[in-house]
Amino acid sequence: MSIHKVSILGAETIHVGYGIQDHIVETVLTQKASSTYVIITDTNMGRTAPFAKLHAKFDSRIKEIRPESRLLFYSVSPGENNKNRETKAAVEDFLLQQGCTRDTVILAVGGGVIGDMIGFVAATFMRGVRVVQIPTTLLAMVDSSVGGKTAIDTPLGKNFIGAFHQPEFVFADVSFLETLPTRQFINGMAEVVKTAAIWNEEEFTRLENFSKTFLDVVSKENPDLRSIEPELVKTVLESIKVKAFVVSSDEKEAGLRNLLNFGHTIGHAIEAVLTPQALHGECVSIGMIKEAELARYLGVLPPVAVARLSKCLLAYGLPVTIDDKDFLKKVGNKRHYVEIDTLLKKMAIDKKNDGSKIRCVILEAIGKCYQLKAHQVSKQDLSFVLTDEVLVHPFEKDVTPATNVIIPPGSKSISNRALILAALGSGTVRIKNLLHSDDTKHMLAAVASLKGAEISTEDNGETIVVSGRGGDLVTCDEQLYLGNAGTASRFLTTVASLVGVNPESSEHVILTGNARMQERPIGPLVDALRANGSEIEYLNREGSLPLKVKAGKGLKGGRIELAATISSQYVSSILMGAPYAKEAVTLSLVGGKPISQLYIDMTIDMMKSFGINVTTSTTEEYTYHIPKGTYVNPKEYVIESDASSATYPLAFAALTGTTCTVPNIGSSSLQGDARFAVDVLRPMGCKVEQSATSTTVTGPPRGHLRPLPHVDMEPMTDAFLTASVVAAVAKDKDQSTSITGIANQRVKECDRIAAMVSQLSKFGVKANELPDGIEIHGVDIDDLVTPSTEKRGVKTYDDHRVAMSFSLLAGLCKQPVLIQERSCTGKTWPGWWDTLHSKFKATLDGYELPFNVEDVTSLAEKHANGSKSIIVIGMRAAGKSTLSKWMASFLNFKLLDLDDALEAKVGTDIRSFIKENGWEEFRKQEAILAKESFSRYSDGYVLSTGGGIVEGEEARESLKAYIKSGGIVLHLHRDLDETVEFLSADTTRPAYVDEIKEVWTRREQWYHECSNYHFYSSHCSSELEFKHLRESFVRYLKTITGLQITQVPTKRSVYTTLPFEDLTEVAGSLEDITNGSTAVELRVDLLKDYSKTFVADQTAILRKSINLPIIYSVKTESQGGKFSDDDIETLQELLQLGIKLGVQYLEVQLNFLNELLEKVFETKKFTRIIASYVDTTGSLKWSNVEWKNRYNQGVSLNADIVKLVGYASTFQDNLELETFKSTCSLKPLIAYNNGEQGKLSRVLNPILTPVTHALIPTELKEEGILSAPEINKAYAEIGGLTEKHFWIIGHPVGHSRSPPLHNAAYKTLSLPYVFDRFDTSDAEEAFKKLIKEDKNFGGLAVTMPLKVDIMKFIDELSDSATTIGAVNTVIPLEGKPGKYYGDNTDWVGITNSFIRNKVPSLDNNQVNGLVIGGGGTSRAAVYALHKLGCKKIYMVNRTVSKVHEIRDSFPAEFGIEVLETVEEVNSSEPVSLVVSCIPADKPIEEQLLSNIESLLSRGREAKQGGFTPYLLDASYKPRETPLMKIASEKYQWNVVPGVEMLINQGERQFELHTGFTAPYKVIYDAVVNE
Ligand SMILES: NC(=O)c1ccc[n+]([C@@H]2O[C@H](COP(=O)([O-])OP(=O)(O)OC[C@H]3O[C@@H](n4cnc5c(N)ncnc54)[C@H](O)[C@@H]3O)[C@@H](O)[C@H]2O)c1
Ligand SMILES: [Zn+2]
Repeated sequence: MSIHKVSILGAETIHVGYGIQDHIVETVLTQKASSTYVIITDTNMGRTAPFAKLHAKFDSRIKEIRPESRLLFYSVSPGENNKNRETKAAVEDFLLQQGCTRDTVILAVGGGVIGDMIGFVAATFMRGVRVVQIPTTLLAMVDSSVGGKTAIDTPLGKNFIGAFHQPEFVFADVSFLETLPTRQFINGMAEVVKTAAIWNEEEFTRLENFSKTFLDVVSKENPDLRSIEPELVKTVLESIKVKAFVVSSDEKEAGLRNLLNFGHTIGHAIEAVLTPQALHGECVSIGMIKEAELARYLGVLPPVAVARLSKCLLAYGLPVTIDDKDFLKKVGNKRHYVEIDTLLKKMAIDKKNDGSKIRCVILEAIGKCYQLKAHQVSKQDLSFVLTDEVLVHPFEKDVTPATNVIIPPGSKSISNRALILAALGSGTVRIKNLLHSDDTKHMLAAVASLKGAEISTEDNGETIVVSGRGGDLVTCDEQLYLGNAGTASRFLTTVASLVGVNPESSEHVILTGNARMQERPIGPLVDALRANGSEIEYLNREGSLPLKVKAGKGLKGGRIELAATISSQYVSSILMGAPYAKEAVTLSLVGGKPISQLYIDMTIDMMKSFGINVTTSTTEEYTYHIPKGTYVNPKEYVIESDASSATYPLAFAALTGTTCTVPNIGSSSLQGDARFAVDVLRPMGCKVEQSATSTTVTGPPRGHLRPLPHVDMEPMTDAFLTASVVAAVAKDKDQSTSITGIANQRVKECDRIAAMVSQLSKFGVKANELPDGIEIHGVDIDDLVTPSTEKRGVKTYDDHRVAMSFSLLAGLCKQPVLIQERSCTGKTWPGWWDTLHSKFKATLDGYELPFNVEDVTSLAEKHANGSKSIIVIGMRAAGKSTLSKWMASFLNFKLLDLDDALEAKVGTDIRSFIKENGWEEFRKQEAILAKESFSRYSDGYVLSTGGGIVEGEEARESLKAYIKSGGIVLHLHRDLDETVEFLSADTTRPAYVDEIKEVWTRREQWYHECSNYHFYSSHCSSELEFKHLRESFVRYLKTITGLQITQVPTKRSVYTTLPFEDLTEVAGSLEDITNGSTAVELRVDLLKDYSKTFVADQTAILRKSINLPIIYSVKTESQGGKFSDDDIETLQELLQLGIKLGVQYLEVQLNFLNELLEKVFETKKFTRIIASYVDTTGSLKWSNVEWKNRYNQGVSLNADIVKLVGYASTFQDNLELETFKSTCSLKPLIAYNNGEQGKLSRVLNPILTPVTHALIPTELKEEGILSAPEINKAYAEIGGLTEKHFWIIGHPVGHSRSPPLHNAAYKTLSLPYVFDRFDTSDAEEAFKKLIKEDKNFGGLAVTMPLKVDIMKFIDELSDSATTIGAVNTVIPLEGKPGKYYGDNTDWVGITNSFIRNKVPSLDNNQVNGLVIGGGGTSRAAVYALHKLGCKKIYMVNRTVSKVHEIRDSFPAEFGIEVLETVEEVNSSEPVSLVVSCIPADKPIEEQLLSNIESLLSRGREAKQGGFTPYLLDASYKPRETPLMKIASEKYQWNVVPGVEMLINQGERQFELHTGFTAPYKVIYDAVVNE
């Protein structure tokens, strides 16, 4: 057992080793005399074997060494949640109760939580007792245990309360890590890497090399740490040494100790938002990269250092960006809370900062910090590095340096070649300015695996040192994984053919890549190599990676033929490998002119630099002779900068009238883009000086660039984007710039030609596409338009070249220009923005699109179907034609029946077509047509398909693709027996080959697979049933298309849970059962049948019987339900079915598998998610952190509502729940206790409490569940609801039906309210007596003649009251004593009466309305008809002056037209909705009646909107008015009695008055049966 001692603050008190429990015990007992030793740990740690060993040892040795002393033990709950005042107090109470005194020694055994908290206990207990730190997590060993900082958290922030209290000893026993969970282990590595990064480059290098072994070992289930003991101990030791040294020189963090906060300024801010889902080290890892990028941005840290740090962290399994895939999985939707403003605020209050200034450690190199202290940084610079959108401010003349020298990153093509040549060569070469890309990364790793060369770095990673072994490569065990690095895969294929056999390893080399790589072609190269003796096998797909190359075969040499018209990389690959063939090689390129000759020349030229001279055949075209030989590595090879990249700094000079030199690209360069300066910038008016190896451009004075009438950029296609932005401000009269020869740019990262045209237009620059190019009409610089930030500035298409080009043009605008996705420049120039900032002195700023998770409209926009076409599938006779028609009419889409379209296409009917050509051909044609139609008619269509479309594989693929693209494929279904019956009667369509049921069985699964929505249409046999169906279908459409968004209730509300096996039997009483509920729960797990058809039918019954949002739940046994926890497959299908059925709420359990939850959240669209957790054991107290964790889980999933259900075994449990609830504010919470004793919690739960009803059999009810009235009663008894008085005022009100209506509802719901009449014509009297003087005043219903008079006492009016100009409902304004709110619900009475009588939705604006009369109700009627969606609203009345007045007082968009003369009446359009607002007890004047009848007579035939028209008579005495009689009997109209208007108006009034959902059936009966 070796023990390493580290000195801190002058004493060797830190001891590091592996399995040193004995040493710990001996040292403490012999050196720290005490009467009492207390071991404190957390319950996790307390369970582990290494801990048990320590404890037992202590126990036995204390008896021997200090028999008079005692050993106490205490453990606390684990986790950051418990690092608080309460736990600290509990520990202190324990110590006090045990009579601990000042000589106590506390041993804090655990992670940082224990170390910090117990350290703090020790710091203050008896004004300070001795503490020994025994860290058991990696983080605690290397960080928290060393340095004496102790603290606890408060709700307002982490570590806000604490003290400096140095421990007597720190024992870092690495064996404790054996039981540490992998994620915690990795978490600690962040601090280890951090410490090396700021202090010790050598150690950092060691860590880089250790990463793979480390990750392999710790990822195992039971990691064998012994196998890496020396490295692990060193890792801990080296890290501790640095921390100890730094602490020793700056104990109280005045300067140097700040360095340890590298990565923490940003890391802490992120952690503050993402805790507890993300761990400290993970956030610090991301923070380090951001802070390193900041250092790079400030021009201090070289780009390679950032790359190196990031690579190292990744290699340890740590995230380096918030958007890291695995990290995102952990933090879920909480990621959206990481907003720049939040982060900046958090940074400003971080206690490590000074005041509101933000300080940050600036790295200068790996292992070194800039000026050894933290620096104050600007918010602007921070926000730049923290966001992926950048605002480029105008380049300022006085700030832009007149001359610049820029070395762009190395050329990608040259970098790739240099590595291959060096690896095959002999001797050592130092490669400089290498571009670090995926290709080079994979190539380096592969060469290292094949032991071809030794590779190391110098100058902090700037120089790559390759010591080649002259091409002597051997096989290795592992496969060579090349990601999606195309060049690497091509170049290495030839190299692999040259590999020799390592007798201890494999006989093959296997090259593989990611999925995309496995589709990319490599066939021609493999063919050529095979023909030359190489044995290569395709392991998967013919012509692509993975390849298995037999080692030891080599290449024969001699003549090699290669098709080189596809990729020059094949040619370069063979050229570079050829010297190692057994004979000299003659490479002949066949099949015509090779593409990209320049790249072939480049390879040949570089081979020459490495000592091999390739000669071109003088007799044969495209043929080369390559001699046998070995590359001789030059001492140094400087990679030429990338010439495409160089165009940006050169163009900067051109645009700003300054000078820029690129010192390592000149006329001798083989890169095509090296000609840019001479061929493009010079003719545009720049001064260009180019030597063989250098290029300098000086721009003309601002505004003096000239257009270039025509330039062929075929040799430098990548530079056309740069040329385009220069041309954008090159103006000379009407001369434009045309660039051609760049057709290949259409198939790069994006269609770059189209992209430039569209983005240039945002700057006010006109450009147009040419067949193989672009034409740009330049403008004066002063006429450049600043693209609007609100409209998202410049779109980059994630294309580095688009981003870099526009960053130049952006700086010429007068206002800052937003550029999206700036990090895309990382592909070729990660440091571009830094160059722009630190060299060209441009001002850049971060920008972030505000994101609000709660924002319903953004949700709607994101998921709304908009005008995207909807595809309908389903069995024949499932109602596709009817429902499709309804859908088209409702959405105002065109309807296309694909069967019809097919008949039109083949020129015959389907039946004959099948007869002639057979089913197979029919299906084939059908699939082709479907595919075409889905893309051609993708907007504004309902596409109704033939029943058998899902039979064909291809058609199924098209349907699935449509869903993937975000579209709706709606599966319509109906009862099978009905379908059979219906179809047997039909002879006009082709007969089914099989029986219908068989057909269904075969297709069922396909229909489900190929649809993302499902609607079950029940059989209709009467017009009323059709109306019902249409209404519920339209409601369904509104939900699934996002036209209607479910709002989560904010007021006290309940939902009825239906514990039935089958709703068919209770369908008739559902309305009663759900009285007063805001929603209804379908307990799918309790249904007697889990088939999709049955479940769908049950929702159809619900929808038909009641109009309430559905909560769909499938509760499993572990959560008190009936569904098996193990049948995950069916569970997933049922949940998916819920979403397909468009339910408003779906309940998911927080204990579902992650994949299941993910799937639900991915597909849910508009369905709201309730994430629930039930404690069925009854043992989880509300003080247990488990509940908070569950709540947080729900929050981070971004559930709409979290639901937690505990169990009350004592009444006290309800009170604890209330305390718990007060700590949950991030998401709406439903929380209550099951059990008889839990009733109080149900009463106190605010939103969506589940309730039962008297009509539900007792044996089906869950224990403790209450009904809505029971809840209200109890709530009222305990003061939650207080007595209120409501009144109807007006004259006369003696017969008003409002009192019975409201009182019946109060009674049913058990509300402590009373509704009375107050007869008066004096508004002021009512106001004084009722409102002012009655302290129980609840609200008013206002009727004639006070609807207008009362308005002067009202402080706030609703939109409807303002527009109608009258108030019929008054309530006190919440939170504003003495202020009142006025609304008008008369119009709701009208709209809802129509809707309840099944008037279909009129959103397509095809229907006209008519209002008869000119009084106050007519105004409400106009408003109602407008809200319903009427196009025109006609008005007739005996005295027209009154209606003119009304028309003039409404906005023009209401489309009101007054019909006065008979001619006007006769030439008007037909009407479908009529509201009569004239008294019914007097006869109607003759002329008026004849006008009305004329309108009625035309309405029926017109059937606007496809329905029979409706007349509502607002007067309700008598119940059937003469006008209703005429309308229904003479003209067969639907009629609605006025009493319904009264009821519907009262329903809304009740809701305004009380905040509760009205029991509709109750108020209906109260009014009608009175
Ligand atoms: N004082 C300082 O200078 C300083 C520095 C850095 C961090 N911190 C503090 O440290 C805390 C984080 O420490 P942490 O990351 O060690 O977390 P932690 O103490 O919560 O431990 C992580 C988890 O691992 C468990 N655990 C600990 N050791 C184990 C072992 N050997 N085997 C199995 N399970 C084990 C714990 O019970 C816990 O669940 C934070 O509160 C942070 O503020 C303090
Ligand atoms: Zn830290």
